[in-house]
Amino acid sequence: MSYVPSQLIQKKKRGLALTTDEIRWLVNAYTAGVVPDYQMSAWAMAVWFKGMNDDEIAVFTDAMLKSGSRFDFSKLGGPRIDKHSTGGIGDKTSIIVGPILAAAKVYAPMIAGRGLGHTGGTLDKLEAIPGFRVALARAEFEKHVAENYFSIMSQTEDICPADKKLYALRDVTSTVDSLPLICGSIMSKKLAEDLTGLVLDVKFGSGALMKSVNDAMKLAQLLKTTGEKNGLRVIALITNMNEPLGRFSGNAVEVHECYEIMQGKTLLENGHDFYASTRELSLELAACGLLLAGRADDIAGARAHAHELFNSGAALREFEKLLAYQGPSDISKLPHAKFSRVLKAARSGTVQPMDSEVIGMSCVELGVGRKVVGDKIDPAAGIEMFVRIGDNVKAGQPLCRYFSSVESKLDSTEKMLAAAIAVGDGAPERLPLVAKVLS
Ligand code: URA
Repeated sequence: MSYVPSQLIQKKKRGLALTTDEIRWLVNAYTAGVVPDYQMSAWAMAVWFKGMNDDEIAVFTDAMLKSGSRFDFSKLGGPRIDKHSTGGIGDKTSIIVGPILAAAKVYAPMIAGRGLGHTGGTLDKLEAIPGFRVALARAEFEKHVAENYFSIMSQTEDICPADKKLYALRDVTSTVDSLPLICGSIMSKKLAEDLTGLVLDVKFGSGALMKSVNDAMKLAQLLKTTGEKNGLRVIALITNMNEPLGRFSGNAVEVHECYEIMQGKTLLENGHDFYASTRELSLELAACGLLLAGRADDIAGARAHAHELFNSGAALREFEKLLAYQGPSDISKLPHAKFSRVLKAARSGTVQPMDSEVIGMSCVELGVGRKVVGDKIDPAAGIEMFVRIGDNVKAGQPLCRYFSSVESKLDSTEKMLAAAIAVGDGAPERLPLVAKVLS
């Protein structure tokens, strides 16, 4: 059966639900190149305005999943858990969560992403380690998961090709921030991993796709329901992205932060441990994963287990195994940026809520991410935060350091960062790192 694309666009434009056959046909015809980009963009925009009902979302997700092939890890005979974040700045927790799960002998097959818009990507971060390989062949990934529990690979041509194509289109047609489209995109890839459980880190705040806790809750509920309809157990944490996570945002610098944290180090300065938010969120996400894997009876037990695996150095050893297997890679040779500058407070006062999206865009400007598909990234570029929201600062006090391998990029970034990290009067409200949990 074939359909007329313009009629499906019109149906959605009028707010009507598409049938199962119509959705499956559209996704397949788009993947095969029968429906062109311009018609798919119009349909995506109609979805942005009119949404989809729960049945449409379930069918859309399944059609995206079935556009490619799925892993089969059932023969491993144990729980398979992944953690997925909706995207943030300084958001590096997969690098710590995976090793904790592996240390508990929980399989963690992770298909990770690259930087997207103003948000960073785990693959770009890991590739900053000289020698680290993410473009694994399917068989190599399967072998590593089976032998060492944890592996990270990039999406291949045969994993959700419909999403690969549609995501690139959404990125340039302002249709990324649509709940049904995000849901289909994320959950099709997670279902392809053949997991038994998924921990979702749904971000809210100035640096997140969803700016308010309520919108993040709606997205989390939708992702959870879609996962559960497909037999996946899901716990979703709604977490704060009003300021970058941890000390560093970038590629090499984020790996360095994770490595130091796994070695038990802290970064105490100005009354803070600047590593605390990265460490705490990673441990909480890992604890949720251990709970889903049945490694504890309740969240308190799962937290204790995650802390023990982390404090004993077991997680660090798993990370070192990953470095050897997906290399050989040399973490002692992380690149350093040649050029750096410090942004200083223009006045005395209190650090106000930050515009984290602009901080993320500053990272992209420095070379951490790509402005257009195919841009080469600068593994050494990034930002180091010296303050948190609500800190009292004096005029001239350093707020952050920003660095790049290309000196001129510091000039173009300076104004952006000065606008994003404002110092003013009054005490801003500090929201918790984990605002809500859907379990
Ligand atoms: N991450 C994805 O993989 N897809 C989206 O649509 C948004 C975030």
